[in-house]
Amino acid sequence: MQSEEKSLIVVVLLGTGIFLLFGFFVISFLVFFRKKQIRNRLEKASLQAQFQEEILTAKNEVQENTMKHIARELHDNIGQLLSLVKIQLNTIDEENPGIKRVGDSKEFLGKALKDLRALSKTLNSDNVLKAGLIKAITFELDRVRRTEVYEVNFVNDIEQWDVNPKIEVIVFRIFQEVIQNIFKHSGAKNINVSLQEMPEVYTLVVLDDGSGFDIQAKSNQKSFNSGAGLSNLAHRAQLISGDFEIESAIGKGTKVKLSIPKTTTSHDQSRPNRRSQPYT
Ligand SMILES: Nc1ncnc2c1ncn2[C@@H]1O[C@H](COP(=O)(O)OP(=O)(O)OP(=O)(O)O)[C@@H](O)[C@H]1O
Ligand SMILES: [Mg+2]
Repeated sequence: MQSEEKSLIVVVLLGTGIFLLFGFFVISFLVFFRKKQIRNRLEKASLQAQFQEEILTAKNEVQENTMKHIARELHDNIGQLLSLVKIQLNTIDEENPGIKRVGDSKEFLGKALKDLRALSKTLNSDNVLKAGLIKAITFELDRVRRTEVYEVNFVNDIEQWDVNPKIEVIVFRIFQEVIQNIFKHSGAKNINVSLQEMPEVYTLVVLDDGSGFDIQAKSNQKSFNSGAGLSNLAHRAQLISGDFEIESAIGKGTKVKLSIPKTTTSHDQSRPNRRSQPYT
């Protein structure tokens, strides 16, 4: 009887041991499987993010090249043609000094040429690369001022500017889209732009006192996500590890704030005299 009890205990212990071992294997397998699943999901997400970034970069490059092409066309072809017309008008003027219309035409043509050259400069990203973002913004705002539609105020509180030129080009394109939106949608009278320095980033703020809009309602519209406008700006900001915020109040205006990361790698030595480069 005693030996029977003993063998029963052994059987129970053995059974429990086998059961525990089996349980252990099952749990280990589940943990391993779950970890693998998570790792796969993370890898997939990272690949997808990488893919999106590559698409965006390629899209930016295509846009930049197209704009460069248009800039050159404007400057070289149309600019040359208009200059020729101006020279012709000059000679007519000499022959017929009394014709007032020729004088007026010359004036309009002069203005058109000036605007055309300015437009050509702002489309060509080489100018931003050469002269830097602050000069590019100053130049662009001068162009806006010349329309005589807006009061433009620009405050630059930055002492030490240190941003990778490629990032500057992307920031400049974001800035241009924000200004275009003010032209197209806001009906504003005043545009205030400020650049400030924070410990980790610079901030660029563009404020208008126009109609404002309902951001939530707009972001639900299909066209908002079509890629060209505001949604694209948020993606571009991501591309430079920056941050894009927009606030708007109907009847009061819109505020856009962009944070621009400072250059963390070694300084760009290729253009040591960058600050003295004119915006040409
Ligand atoms: N500064 C602003 N003032 C008033 N409304 C604005 C302003 N900026 C944007 N909006 C509103 O937000 C909408 C979305 O702007 P977004 O730039 O995405 O598109 P869009 O300017 O209409 O088109 P796209 O930029 O593709 O040419 C605009 O249609 C407009 O209604
Ligand atoms: Mg727009």
